[in-house]
Amino acid sequence: MPSNGPISRREFLGKTTLVASAAGIAAGAKKVRAQLNNGVQPAPGRVGVGYIGVGIRGTILYKSSLPVAGVEPVAVCDLYQGHLDCAKENLGRNIFTTRDYQEILARSDVDAVVLAVPDHWHKRTFVESLQAGKHVYQEKPMTHRWEDGEEFIQAEKKYGKVVQVGSQYLSMSCVGQAKEIISSGRLGQITMIEGRTHRNSSTGAWYYPIPPDASPETMDWKRFIGDSKWYDFDPKRFFQWRLFWDYSGGLPTDLFVHLVGAVHDLMGVETPEKVVSFGDIYRWDKEGGGYRDVPDQMEAMAFYPDKGFNLKLTSTSNNAHSGPTIVIYGTEGTLEYEGEGLKYYYEPRRENYNYPTESWTKETVKEFAGIMKLDDKLSPVVQSPPTAEEPLEISGERGEGSTTAHLRNFFDAARGQGKAIEPASFGHHAALVGHMCNISYKTGKVVKFNKKTRKVEV
Ligand SMILES: NC(=O)c1ccc[n+]([C@@H]2O[C@H](COP(=O)([O-])OP(=O)(O)OC[C@H]3O[C@@H](n4cnc5c(N)ncnc54)[C@H](O)[C@@H]3O)[C@@H](O)[C@H]2O)c1
Repeated sequence: MPSNGPISRREFLGKTTLVASAAGIAAGAKKVRAQLNNGVQPAPGRVGVGYIGVGIRGTILYKSSLPVAGVEPVAVCDLYQGHLDCAKENLGRNIFTTRDYQEILARSDVDAVVLAVPDHWHKRTFVESLQAGKHVYQEKPMTHRWEDGEEFIQAEKKYGKVVQVGSQYLSMSCVGQAKEIISSGRLGQITMIEGRTHRNSSTGAWYYPIPPDASPETMDWKRFIGDSKWYDFDPKRFFQWRLFWDYSGGLPTDLFVHLVGAVHDLMGVETPEKVVSFGDIYRWDKEGGGYRDVPDQMEAMAFYPDKGFNLKLTSTSNNAHSGPTIVIYGTEGTLEYEGEGLKYYYEPRRENYNYPTESWTKETVKEFAGIMKLDDKLSPVVQSPPTAEEPLEISGERGEGSTTAHLRNFFDAARGQGKAIEPASFGHHAALVGHMCNISYKTGKVVKFNKKTRKVEV
């Protein structure tokens, strides 16, 4: 990153625990620039990065990249001038900016691209970036249509570059501990999982504010439309694209996808067998002025018979009562999982025969208690292991957020150190569940995934 920018790397590093490493990063950045200015080959370990789409998420992504040593943002692309100007404010005046991502793909000093464009642009930017020889960090949901998933997987294989799909839930600090608890058997047999993302605000319902300078001059409207259906200039579609099927899959692909990805990873499953969902625009048709295609509330059930559990997903823009993001229920315990923290409760089977013997005579109950070896409260004398465990609470403080950790894993893989943890096949299966929810919502039917043909069936 150029050092003449008004905000240094160190200022981006919110957490004091990172200050020591930030000093090292700043020194590394100086060395890289000197080499570039002399036209010398970049030092091993340098990753030149182009950011395509620097709206809300793209801005978070370039800021979250800065703590990763050797990473050098060199170019940004966006279709709204204000976002490009904001990138210059944050990254320095020397950062290359463009409205045409092909100009980024053509640059030899860009090794990797970070893609954070709306969903209807994902496939084109993904495939063309790999074709151009770039490593690709692809924001979730990987696909805008489930039918495109295999094309992403084939492109990853064909061009042999690193792909990381951006659901940072896989890089949350407590993933390891949660997997340990699950595989240790401390939850017993897991039969039910719940995931939720609940909000209660206009921005939570995706009515993002439109910047006052939005105009046909400051925005490339035609390029935004891309291959989708033509509409005349409409800043709402541009800045509030999640409200429209043309550009988004609504709550299931935007929010469930994180929960599904986390559950697939924790439970070691790839795809459900069946999905059913319900939803509606209950509130925001009125409050949002009728400007919306996608439901403001969705509930879904996904059925994973191979591992013997159901996943219940809920997302609403109409209530934000607090509750754990993911809850995993087993016959011996419950795990409340927040990604950056977890709580484990020991909950073994507890047998008691009071209720079903209510209608028996005292004599019969006494005889039954003797046969079953029950105590005077009609519970088995020995009923659960004596090693009852206390609730366990873990908070995953580690000094960097999950987005930086996920990007770090990607950049390390791009320079040959390790593997990216979220390849295209994983991204496809996580988004697939969201698409199945939408198909069920639109058809009113249970939607199946055929593992042999790898196709969705209604
Ligand atoms: N991982 C997460 O937690 C997370 C969070 C938010 C968003 N996202 C994902 O990031 C992506 C972007 O979401 P956002 O909230 O930042 O949206 P946004 O509207 O704030 O930003 C998207 C940007 O892409 C630009 N753009 C559109 N088409 C383009 C093109 N062809 N070339 C270059 N730029 C183009 C737009 O000008 C806009 O600035 C989405 O896929 C979304 O699902 C992920």
